[in-house]
Amino acid sequence: MANYKFSTLAVHAGQHPDPLTGAVNVPVYLSSTFELTGIGADRGWDYSRAGNPTRDRLETALAALEGGTSGHAFTTGMAAIGALVAMLRSGDHLICSRDVYAGTVRLFDQIVSGYGIQIEYVDTSDLAAVEAAIRPNTRLIHIETPSNPLMVLTDITGVAKIAHARGIEVSVDNTFLSPVLQNPIALGADIVMHSTTKYLNGHSDGLGGALIGTTPEHKERFLLIQKAAGGVMSPFECYLVLRGIKTLPLRIQKHEENGRAVAEFLSGHPKVQKLAYPGLPCHPQYALACRQQKGFGSMMSIELQSRDEAARFLTAIKIFLNAESLGGVESLASHSATTTHGSVSEEVRRRMGINEGRIRLSIGIEDKDDLIADLDQALAAV
Ligand SMILES: Cc1ncc(COP(=O)(O)O)c(C=O)c1O
Repeated sequence: MANYKFSTLAVHAGQHPDPLTGAVNVPVYLSSTFELTGIGADRGWDYSRAGNPTRDRLETALAALEGGTSGHAFTTGMAAIGALVAMLRSGDHLICSRDVYAGTVRLFDQIVSGYGIQIEYVDTSDLAAVEAAIRPNTRLIHIETPSNPLMVLTDITGVAKIAHARGIEVSVDNTFLSPVLQNPIALGADIVMHSTTKYLNGHSDGLGGALIGTTPEHKERFLLIQKAAGGVMSPFECYLVLRGIKTLPLRIQKHEENGRAVAEFLSGHPKVQKLAYPGLPCHPQYALACRQQKGFGSMMSIELQSRDEAARFLTAIKIFLNAESLGGVESLASHSATTTHGSVSEEVRRRMGINEGRIRLSIGIEDKDDLIADLDQALAAV
C-alpha cells in the first residue's frame, strides 16, 4: 500500500475484502470476546478491549493515511488526548499550544495536572517562545495547528527541530485539516492525534479519537493504554469512520472550495470586524500555511462587534446550524465563548483573544452560493 496515492489509500488501506466472505465492506465484529484455540492460543483476538477485527482495520487505515507505523482508535478525541498524556510520568513537563481547543485545557488543568505533570501553555507560533519554555524535564510538545478558533498556525518542522535536538517528542492535533491537507509526520512530528468525530467520520453521526505513532515504543505504549485504561472505539463507530474515510478526499475538496468562497465573501463584509482564515494573503501566517499545508480547509472564525450581534447572527442563520462541532457535511456556526471555550474562564478567553463576538464557522459541502446567501442575510440581521 505504501506506494499508493492518498485517494487510493483512503478507499483501500485497511479496507480489503473480508477473507471469510469476500464482503467488500469491513464487517462490524460485534463480539466482546473470541473463542480461543487452546490455552493461551487464539486466532489473533481474544477480547475486544485489547483488539477487535473492525478496529484493527480502522487503525491500519489511520496509520496509512498519516504515514505512521501504528494507529490506535479511542472513544473520543478527548480520550485520545488522555491516552497521549498517559505516556507521561509524574514530574514530567508538557508544553501545549496556548490557543487550543478548550476541552484540552480542561483535561490538562483539571485532571492531568493532578497527576503531578507540569503543564505550560506557550504561544507555539513563536519558535523562540517554544525554545525558551523547554526545561530539563520537558517530555512532550503538543501542538494544535491551525488552532481553535483563531486559526493560528504553528510551524511543525520548526518545533520538531527544536524538540528533537533535546530528545523531546512532538504531537500534533491534526483534526482541523485532516491528513488530506496536512501531514504532521512528514513535517517532523512524532505522533498525530485526531478527533475522528470531525472530518474523518465527516457525517456528524459518531464520536471517536485516534493516535498515530511512529515508533515501536508508541505502539507498545498506546496498545497498553487501550488495554489497561479501556477507552477504545466501538466496532460500529470504527465502521462509520472507515466508511467516512473512503470519501474523505472528495469531501475535503468540496469543503475547501466552499471554505475559500465563503472566506472571500466574509473578508470584505462591513459587519465582520475580523476574519481568521489562513487561506487569504491577509492572514499573518499565509506563507506558512502555503508551505506547511496542502490546502486551507474549511474552518474559520469571524468577530462581530458584541455578544448581542453574535446572538442575532446565530438566530438569523437558516442553512448554517447553530451547533458545536465541525468537519461534517453540514455547515455549522458556534459562539466560541459559550461553546468550545465555555469551560475556560473569561480571563483565559481574553488572554487567548476570544471575545464575546467571536463565531466559529465550519463550512460544509452544500452549494456555496446558498451558503453565502445565508451568511449575507444573517449579517444583514446583525
Ligand atoms: C481540535 C480538536 N481536538 C480535539 C477535540 C475533542 O474531540 P472529541 O469531541 O471527539 O472528544 C475537538 C472537539 O471539538 C477539537 O475541535
